[in-house]
Formats: sequence, C-alpha cells, structure tokens
Amino acid sequence: MCGIVGYIGTKRAYPILIKGLKRLEYRGYDSAGVAMIGDNGNLNVYKTKGKVDNLTEYCSDKDVTGCVGIAHTRWATHGEPSARNAHPHYSTSRNLAIIHNGIIENYAGIKAKLQANGVTFKSDTDTEVLVQLVEYIMDKKNLSLLEAVQVALHQVIGAYAIAIVDKRDPYQIIAARKQSPLVVGIGDSEFFLGSDASPIIDYTDKVVYLEDGNIAVIRVKSPNGENEDEGLKILSILGEEQELKVKKVDIDLGQIEKGGYSHFMLKEIFEQPECLQNCMRGRINVEGDNVTLSAMIDYRQQLLGAKRIIIVACGTSWHAGLIGKQLFEQLCRIPCEVEYASEFRYRNPVVNKDDVVIAISQSGETADTLAAIQLAKEQGAFIYGICNAIGSSIPRATDTGTYIHVGPEIGVASTKAFTGQVTVLSMLALCLAKERQTISDELYHSMVKELTLIPEKMEQTLKTNEQIERLAPIFTYAKNCLYLGRGYNYPLALEGALKLKEISYIHAEGYPAAEMKHGPIALIDSEMPVFVIATRDRLYEKVISNIQEVRARGGRVTALVTEGDQQIQKFADHVITLPDTLECFQPLIASIPLQLLAYHIAVCKGKDVDRPRNLAKSVTVE
Ligand code: AGP
Ligand code: GLU
Repeated sequence: MCGIVGYIGTKRAYPILIKGLKRLEYRGYDSAGVAMIGDNGNLNVYKTKGKVDNLTEYCSDKDVTGCVGIAHTRWATHGEPSARNAHPHYSTSRNLAIIHNGIIENYAGIKAKLQANGVTFKSDTDTEVLVQLVEYIMDKKNLSLLEAVQVALHQVIGAYAIAIVDKRDPYQIIAARKQSPLVVGIGDSEFFLGSDASPIIDYTDKVVYLEDGNIAVIRVKSPNGENEDEGLKILSILGEEQELKVKKVDIDLGQIEKGGYSHFMLKEIFEQPECLQNCMRGRINVEGDNVTLSAMIDYRQQLLGAKRIIIVACGTSWHAGLIGKQLFEQLCRIPCEVEYASEFRYRNPVVNKDDVVIAISQSGETADTLAAIQLAKEQGAFIYGICNAIGSSIPRATDTGTYIHVGPEIGVASTKAFTGQVTVLSMLALCLAKERQTISDELYHSMVKELTLIPEKMEQTLKTNEQIERLAPIFTYAKNCLYLGRGYNYPLALEGALKLKEISYIHAEGYPAAEMKHGPIALIDSEMPVFVIATRDRLYEKVISNIQEVRARGGRVTALVTEGDQQIQKFADHVITLPDTLECFQPLIASIPLQLLAYHIAVCKGKDVDRPRNLAKSVTVE
C-alpha cells in the first residue's frame, strides 16, 4: 500500500504534492508526510499521524518552499502508525530523505549490521533501513547517490517503490521499483511521480510506467544552467540504460472526483449501470446478441484448450471468482477452482500446462495475486487477467486479459469493480460456451441479450436506495449479522458480509443458506439480523425453508426478493424487491442493495466510509 508522490521542476512542489497525496489517500492513511528541499537549501521533512488534512494543518506555519519534493501517505506494515514511523525518513546526516511503498524483508539483518557500525535509527520501520544503507554506502565507498542506490538495492530482499532526494543535489530525484507500482509523469521541464497516474493527470498525460528492477534518474536544469543533464533516464538495476516507453494516460478528472455524492462509495454504487455499459461496449454487438472478446480471437487456441480453469484473487475479486466458477462449470463444462492468491502461492499447487489461470484484481497491483501469477507462469499455465487499473502490474504480467473498464474505483470498499468483474466473467463464459458448443445457440443469444438489459435493471434497483436508507438505522445496534444465499447468490452473501464488515465494523458472516443448519444456526436469536438473498430461481423453495428455520429461532429476516414475490413478505421482517433476471446474472442486480445496506449502516454509525480503519485500497504487500 502507501501512496507515493514526487515533483521536480519550476513550480512550487508543496501544493502539487499535497493534492497528489489526497488522490492517493485510498492507498493508506495511517500517516502522511512531505520532504522538500526549500529555497534556502534545507531538506525539510514534515510528517503527522493520520490523514493528509492533519499534515496540511501541521505545515500551515512551516517553510514549504522549494521546487523539488517527495510525499507519502502510509499503510503501516512495520512499526505502529505514528508521526515517528511516518515517511519520509531522513538519513542520519539529514542529507537524504526517502519514501517507500512495500516491505524490505531482510531489514532486520541490514539494520543490525548498520547498528554495529554506529548507525542509529529513529523509527521502527523497514524503510528507514534503506535510506541509512544508501547513506552508509555513499560515505564508505565514496559513491554518488545513484551508485549507492544501485548497490543498496542489490542487498535488499522484498518489494519496493522508492523515491530519494539529496539536499546536496536539489535537481535530482532517484526512484526505483520492484513489485510495487510507480509512474513517472513527463511535463515541460518538470517531472512527477505517483503510485498511479492520478496525482499526475492534472499536469501531463505523458507517463512512463516503471518496470520491475527499473531505476529512474530524474533531473532538471539548475537556474544558472550548470546542470546540463536534464531529463528522465531509466536504468536497469545493473545500470544499463533502458528504452523510454512513454504512454499516454487517459483518465478523466471528473472520474476521480466525488461529483456531488457524499462519498466515493455511494458515487461508485450509482455509477454501476453506466460502468457496465462501458464494460460491454464494443464487446457485445449493437443487436445485443453476440459477444466478442479480443483475447478470445488472439488466444483462441489456448483458451479453448483449457482442461481446467484456476481463478486466483483476493477479497471481493475472489468473490467474483466464485461466481465465475459457477459460470464456467455450468455454461462451459470446464472444471474450475477458485483460490485465495495468498494461499495458492505458498502451497505448491498442481498447475498444468493446459490450465488457464485467471487472475482477477481491481487494482492490478495486489501483491499476493501477482505472486500467484508468477507461480502459475513458472509451471507453464496460460494466464488471463481481469483487471480495472489500466497499465497496472497484473495486466502487464499476464498473457492476455480483459479490462473491466469501470473507471477508477476510489472507495476502499469495492463495488463497481465487483459487478464489472462478474460482467467480464459472464462474457468470457458465454464466449467459451459458444465456441465449445456447450450451450445451444438460442440459449447463448438470449443470455447475451439478458446481459445487455442488466444496466437498465440496475438503474431500477438503485431506486431501493431510499428504502434502504430508512431501514439502515434499525441495524446499527447489531454486533453480528448473517448473510445467506445459495447457488449464484452464495458468493454474494459472502460479498454482502464483507462490505458490512469493512466499512461499519459489524461482524458479519456469509453462508450458503443450507449450510447454516450445520453450525451457525446456533448463533441465531432475536438480536441477530439475517439478510437472505431469496430471488426466484431453482433453489427458491429451498431458501424459503431456510428462512423458516431462521424465523423459528426468532431471527430477524430481511429478504431480497424478485418483484411479484407474494410468499416471502408474509414471514420476513423486511423485503427489498428486485427486478427479475437470469439466475446467473442475479448477483449483478442483488449486489446493489447489499452495497447500499452496508453503506447506509456505516454512515448511520458515523464511520469513515471511503477510508475504513486498517484497510487500504491497493494491497501491494503480502
Ligand atoms: C473489497 O471491498 C476489499 N477492499 C478487498 O477485499 C479487495 O477486493 C482485495 O484487496 C483485492 O483487491 P484487488 O481486486 O485490487 O486485487
Ligand atoms: N513498510 C513500510 C512501512 O511500514 C511501507 C509500507 C507499505 O508500503 O505499505 O512504513
């Protein structure tokens, strides 16, 4: 996690850095800090615990001059969230300052050696070890900053995106990456750094995404013109110059602002109909009965040759994967396994050359998912990515894939990415099923048609917002909640529970409705809200019996039902009515009231919906 911003050029760095940090706050908000080389040549580091607003308040009476600086918003891995552990970290001489995203795994050994050589540490972080190591190497071996960074990076094990400044050379920033993301923006005699492009897009659309093992040397001219070396150079860790691959970013600023909504999460929930249209655009034909994915054309043989599909993902993306499994097995008759990327990577799984591994990730940066891809690649599997963030690490690490195109998702609780992922999985399953002839042409066309109707049905479903806002206060007292669903609605029960947990801090469990009687039923009493996804499908009658079992034990039932349902309202405490659709697309519709429910409960409880405690949007550490 952590957000990294940097600026070097002719403008005042401070406002650019702060604005950038605010854009990146979704990546972590345990602390924030800036380091700037001021007009008087001092290297000023300011840092505070908590969000960026605390930092700006703190800096209000400080020297924030200077045209070069680096800034950081932290999600702590090593050392408690505090001002002391906040980045940037100085070296002992205070000539250098560093910001870092990632984990230096062998920090303890390096720290011990440096301490034995008289270096003292001010923080408990792994990051400080790196800046001290660089300084130690510079002094001991009389090397330049760049040379010392190269030597130091050879010694560290772990993941990093870093930026370092040296007050003795105020016309340079050195940055490097391994596994954690880093983007350099190229302006007119000025350069920007960001963990993603969002802090950069106000100033330039020309960016370079650093590759693993790249070091960026960013230099600008000094006012007296002495420093001729202006420009961006990308080197390998061994110092070989790399080709500069300049890309054009295409993010609309409006997409990353709140646009009148009180939270990003609410905005993103409401955007879903439009997002899914964007996701299907150009993939489903205008007649709405045929779907084409470019990956299916380019890699037809590999995809059709799949003997098995393995889905690797984390969190919400993993829940989307569970829906994908049902789609691939039911429609395409391809066996499918869904793995937590974090488990998969460490358990020596059996992966075959004719397996297709699908990695699902909104951010495209999740470290566990990246590592799972790496492992599957080594075993010769074909890798397909389903991601949202364009140009992020996962799409670059996969053989092919499909972007979900739902636009930047800022709220930490994933909403539109989930429905985007399920939509792409549905399109992929339909393509495969058609090619493999595991469903009839008639069924195929009617299913594609139905998928195109989902945005409209979502629009209709969003009208439940007011009802849900009224219901929400009823549940704020709850300590525990249960979410039940079967078939395609079971992963949705998991997702509904995750949404509630992460933003309202109410403990919630998702369960297959029929499995409840094997344990969780013991928890049910009149204090326990139970949310049941009971839409009309093959298992409808069975779910009704499960609701009765809850009722018989005094449980309070809120049911999501299909319009026209007459039965469930007779015995549920509350019903939320949804438009009808095919069973396999039901999660696309039913996710909306569950997202809204979590949202309104959290708002009623006064929680920080977009920035829930302990979490970060992009989990780039394992
Ligand atoms: C979702 O609400 C969560 N914040 C989280 O579970 C998330 O889905 C998970 O960290 C995976 O992220 P990714 O999709 O960016 O890989
Ligand atoms: N390991 C560093 C710290 O704890 C950076 C954390 C991160 O990138 O998430 O400060």
